[in-house]
Amino acid sequence: MHQPVSPVTIAQGLDELWSPRVIAELDDAYVKVAKVFGTFGWHAHAEEDELFHVLAGSLRIELEQQTAVVLQPGDVFVVPKGVRHNPVAEAECLILLIEKKSTAHSGDQTFAHTRSLDEQRRPLQKTAGQQA
Ligand code: NI
Repeated sequence: MHQPVSPVTIAQGLDELWSPRVIAELDDAYVKVAKVFGTFGWHAHAEEDELFHVLAGSLRIELEQQTAVVLQPGDVFVVPKGVRHNPVAEAECLILLIEKKSTAHSGDQTFAHTRSLDEQRRPLQKTAGQQA
């Protein structure tokens, strides 16, 4: 288990949109990757900050109290706890997330695409790019 992982390779290999997968953990935080496309939905995490890092593509994060931000590959943005936000990808986008382990996928909302922490922690299928 203690081997390097490639977030981009893992994210590229995901079949399901808006379905984050845990790729690493440190202390009280998970590092996750996801493949996204379309609109996620407005929600907030009352107790947790949420870090977005775009690996490929472009992600717009609409925010209740300020103008939307647009993240390009390499960009990082933290949504502070309690701030309502709505991630939108106009085209397929790969993201990395750093979140407290307690963070619920869609915060105070439940969507059809909301994933439980157990689903996010499922073992990843090995792909050609990540075989040891
Ligand atoms: Ni969120």
